Amino acid sequence: MSDPRVLVQALRERLSRWSAEYYQDDSPSVSDSEFDRALLELRQLESDHPELLTPDSPTQRVGAAPLAGFEPVTHRVPMLSLDNAFSADDLLDFDRRVRERLALAAVQYVCEPKLDGIAVSIVWEKGQLVLAATRGDGQTGEGITQNVKSIDCVPLALSGTDFPDYLEVRGEVYMPKAGFEAFNKRALAEGSKPFVNPRNAAAGSLRQLDSSITRRRPLAFCAYSLGHIEGAAKPFSSHSEVMQQLAQWGIPVSEYGRRVDRIEDCEAYYEELAAERQDLSFDIDGIVFKVDDFALQEALGSVSRAPRWAIARKFPAQEEMTILREVEFQVGRTGAVTPVARLDPVFVGGVTVSNATLHNADEIARLELMQGDSVIVRRAGDVIPQIAAVVADRRPGDAQPIVFPANCPACDSVLVREAGEAVWRCEAGLVCPAQRKASIAHFVSRRAMDIDGLGGKIIDQLIEKNLVSTVADLYTLDRETLAAMERFGDKSAENLISAIEKSRETTLARFVYALGIREVGETTARQLATYFGALEPLLSASKEMLQEVEDVGPVVAEHVIHFFEQPANRETISRLLQGGIHWPLPQADTGDLPLSGQAWVVTGKLETMPREKAEAVLRGFGARVSSSVSGKTSVVVAGPGAGSKLKKAQSLEVSVISEEEFLARLAAWRA
Ligand code: IVH
Repeated sequence: MSDPRVLVQALRERLSRWSAEYYQDDSPSVSDSEFDRALLELRQLESDHPELLTPDSPTQRVGAAPLAGFEPVTHRVPMLSLDNAFSADDLLDFDRRVRERLALAAVQYVCEPKLDGIAVSIVWEKGQLVLAATRGDGQTGEGITQNVKSIDCVPLALSGTDFPDYLEVRGEVYMPKAGFEAFNKRALAEGSKPFVNPRNAAAGSLRQLDSSITRRRPLAFCAYSLGHIEGAAKPFSSHSEVMQQLAQWGIPVSEYGRRVDRIEDCEAYYEELAAERQDLSFDIDGIVFKVDDFALQEALGSVSRAPRWAIARKFPAQEEMTILREVEFQVGRTGAVTPVARLDPVFVGGVTVSNATLHNADEIARLELMQGDSVIVRRAGDVIPQIAAVVADRRPGDAQPIVFPANCPACDSVLVREAGEAVWRCEAGLVCPAQRKASIAHFVSRRAMDIDGLGGKIIDQLIEKNLVSTVADLYTLDRETLAAMERFGDKSAENLISAIEKSRETTLARFVYALGIREVGETTARQLATYFGALEPLLSASKEMLQEVEDVGPVVAEHVIHFFEQPANRETISRLLQGGIHWPLPQADTGDLPLSGQAWVVTGKLETMPREKAEAVLRGFGARVSSSVSGKTSVVVAGPGAGSKLKKAQSLEVSVISEEEFLARLAAWRA
């Protein structure tokens, strides 16, 4: 029989590791049932050997029966809220008030992120977690002890020594962004409702009567102040000292806290974190500034619900409510029909938003959206504004259902939805004026052919007047025709003509991207261009060959083949080339690559890679790759089955190497 002590230890280690994988890394290596089995085993061992049970055992995080309701908990010290500052001036006013009251020239502050979660109070008695409660109305909250105990980073027993007999800590329970996204992804996959934002997710998870549900939610805790405290070894003198001590006892505190000597530094801290906001692993809605010294805090005191010694400078809200007026259906370059919400303009995330994408028909159904609804618009950083939720109880009596069209709004073709796809598509291609317009707009866009001055309005006119029907027609335009367009003077016409002229000189990668092949974005276009080196081999590439290119799978390969198979596309491409579009020949010789100035030929069938790949690699190292051997050929790579080219090389005394030698040289060039 194994020593139960060893077994218990091993089980605890395993469970903590699995917990971390599940909650922090979001990559569980075991199933939920395996986790539960190990937990059950540990619980059994602990009940057979009660002397082995410790308060920080993973079994203590779970296991209480669901509650019938939450017990009220009266806070021994009221849980206060914070006053808000909305501008730099508000913050300066706060500092002035503080200094005037204290009659001091300068005051030290602590700056901390304002976490967007739920305030909780947690009590450790003689180092053991005994009670946790929500803020409630500030006087009385709800007992959520078992739920808080299920949060992994909250210590069930304090570490170190010298903790007070009674230690109440206040802080925020929140859901880190990664956990929130993973949770929502799972919810969507299981057909349940996702949460609108991490704060709602944290609130919803914490207020569960069944703590085993809370345990499955990726929650975290961060302390930001003390509550009631008894029997401390020595009194604390400042906020920063408290934070340091809490961390030593194993209680999580913010790693972003900073003590500063003057208010100007507070403003700088605010700007710093505002810039970092999107990259933080958790949502914050502002910065909290606190007078550090406890004696000064006490002298300042509190008014009704907020202390005079702290203030929260809020960031612009990332969520606002507005009204959905209408849904428009836009046809994109590839025929995909996207519903776009037209909203009453609303200031959110620092900009005025009046449109938001609704993605597809499923999204409208998921949101249960109706025209006229009040909706929550969310815009975080540079992210495209989203409708996060409908405010159901504000729905007006005359709200209208949103009907997804059966026909293309631009050309009336019947819309088609492929099996397993979420989007409806118009398959009319360039016959559809909307797709024509979108494909031209894409072709001229900055990262494609970069033709400046060809905006949506002028494209519309060119299409309406039948001057342009495919992108190739752009290269036949002249100054007089353009100058005759509405709201288009001589100067604009001249500028546009020279922009078109300039675009004739481009790169293969830009050209391939500009064609607008489905799922061929900038990166894929660049990979294709590098691999094939020239347009001709790309036009005739097989599906297998295409899949040799990095990031190209069967679906993209199919789209590429389909695109080049269309006679209309072939025609457009050859007209574009006739129109003078050109790019540097494969790997313009810059003279500083290992094979610069050399001409290589690959012949026979290579064993380790397709010939096209070997050629692409050679180009990458600066070689010109040719298909025929001549006196100018530098090296021939001959694989098994090489025939006439090999013979010719031998007769011309051109250097010939085997595949093995080629691979060896590759390794050397790469080194
Ligand atoms: S201090 C008496 N510090 O913001 C001072 N609060 O709007 C109590 N919050 O109820 C609060 N991060 O839930 C403080 N670093 C932080 C905070 C923070 C988030 C929350 C807290 C409070 C609310 C006030």
